Amino acid sequence: MVIGLLALSACTPERRKSDAELGLTPQQSAGRKVYDAYCDRCHEPYTSRGKQGPSLEGTFKRSFLPLSGLPANDDRVVEIIKFGRSKMPGYGQVLSQQQIEDLLVYLHTL
Ligand code: HEC
Repeated sequence: MVIGLLALSACTPERRKSDAELGLTPQQSAGRKVYDAYCDRCHEPYTSRGKQGPSLEGTFKRSFLPLSGLPANDDRVVEIIKFGRSKMPGYGQVLSQQQIEDLLVYLHTL
């Protein structure tokens, strides 16, 4: 199991939980790596604090995305990831279909 390489996220005072502590499946932890590489600099996963973008804590636990008010479902979220929104860049040309699927299953754990 490879954990650790991406473990240094800047200016997070709380200790970062390992994938095992979070109980992530292999696909969810693959998604976490994608998240750390592409999303974390703008979105907090485990606190409600905003960064450049809104916190993604509990994204799929609500019916609607807090900022845009769009339905919090896989289709809408994949669209945002692929095409971006206002100041958020799109990742449709950057991430593979597999990476987007992994990312999505990870977002469901938040
Ligand atoms: C450069 C900063 C930046 C990066 C990197 C980024 N985002 Fe965003 N994201 C934003 C901003 C800013 C918004 C708010 C857009 C708006 O005004 O509607 C946003 C909005 C969102 C929303 C909708 C939130 C809502 O409440 O409507 C989701 C979901 C989201 N981003 C997911 C992601 C994911 C997943 C990644 C990684 C692939 C990512 N973002 C990467 C800046 C970023």
